[in-house]
Amino acid sequence: MDHFNYHGGILHAEDVSIPEIAATVGTPFYVYSAATLRRHFQVFDEALAGLDHLVCYAMKANSNLAVVKLLGEMGAGMDVVSAGEYLRAKAAGIPGERIVFSGVGKTREEMRIALEGGIRQFNLESEPEMLALSQVATSLGVVAPVTIRVNPDVDAKTHEKIATGKSDNKFGIPIGRARAAYAETAAQPGLKVVGIDVHIGSQLTDLAPYRAAYEKVAELTRSLRADGHEISRLDLGGGLGIPYEQSNAVPPLPMDYGAVVRETVGDLGCEIEIEPGRLIAGNAGLMIARVIYVKQGAERKFLILDAAMNDLVRPAMYEAHHDIVPVAEPPAGAAQERYDIVGPVCESGDTFAKGRSLPAFAADDLVAFRSAGAYGAVMASEYNSRPLIPEVLVDGDRFAVVRARPSYEEMLARDTVPDWL
Ligand code: LLP
Repeated sequence: MDHFNYHGGILHAEDVSIPEIAATVGTPFYVYSAATLRRHFQVFDEALAGLDHLVCYAMKANSNLAVVKLLGEMGAGMDVVSAGEYLRAKAAGIPGERIVFSGVGKTREEMRIALEGGIRQFNLESEPEMLALSQVATSLGVVAPVTIRVNPDVDAKTHEKIATGKSDNKFGIPIGRARAAYAETAAQPGLKVVGIDVHIGSQLTDLAPYRAAYEKVAELTRSLRADGHEISRLDLGGGLGIPYEQSNAVPPLPMDYGAVVRETVGDLGCEIEIEPGRLIAGNAGLMIARVIYVKQGAERKFLILDAAMNDLVRPAMYEAHHDIVPVAEPPAGAAQERYDIVGPVCESGDTFAKGRSLPAFAADDLVAFRSAGAYGAVMASEYNSRPLIPEVLVDGDRFAVVRARPSYEEMLARDTVPDWL
């Protein structure tokens, strides 16, 4: 459920009409709904009610400071994967003890920044990284709390580019090597083992892979405890999928996911951490674009928008589907046309949808991409020297620009030309 609905024939974000925002910030832009973000966080929090737990929002999905602050104020922890995300979390007021640091290649500089600023735990992904962290912590005179991310060799049954839990993926330490890795970790002067971490992939629409992975984690918890390690936290990762097509079956709900957590690891007396990103932010955001031209090709009709693959790369990168809807509600029974929906970037890959049936569009019409709140703005680039598009947050009947559109001058001013040219 989200808060993007038609009122009086016009698409609204909560109580604010999309054309009103477009008139203020220009197109294209992203718009997020505060009520939807809050609701999704709460749904996860409630799914784990009764268990000692912390929902650590995966900031990679949408790391706008306003989004992070809103979730932080609800009690969310943060899952960060770079010093940049860490510093964003701190800037949004998240205390270090609610920030977990994930990622397969943390640099010593990133480790230092997090250790100096305060951190709940590092999720280690390799033996060399473990040794590096111990050295950095020792040099700072501190002890770093750590888990090891284990790779359970479970097929998450999702797009190959976002599956992370198979043994041939780059992530984690093979679960078969975990006991040895924990023994080595416990022997490092700068490290303290606090738990186990696992994350098997993103946009999961089936709970069975979670169950398989968490059963392995439960078994490992028992073995590691028998080896003398204190395993008090389990970080179970993120990845629960969202419905991208309103017409399609709904993926499992957080409540069902919570039941799997309870059934598999609920009796271990561990504090549970989860790292949802997409489920919190995905359906809390739209990307709004304007039709520049409607072009008749040899056989196909093209809807050419002012947004492109640099603004929302998911269709080009993962063949991802986003529902695309008109901002002005079409009358019931309006005739449908088939469009290829494209941007102005000079690549055929700059295609959002092919042969999509939609009511007839004309130049200047506004269109909305649904489910664009996660992995939208954060993955944008300035390819073709198109400035990053602005982000807007709506809360009830008010809205604010939470990232402004840079001017062409600002974009150009980032480059410098050496004086010998
Ligand atoms: N934790 C870790 C360690 C992760 O690597 C990820 C996502 C998450 C949590 C959050 O997963 P989520 O709940 O958002 O599914 N750009 C891709 C998705 C990449 C996900 C990478 N890792 C997309 O647009 O589909």
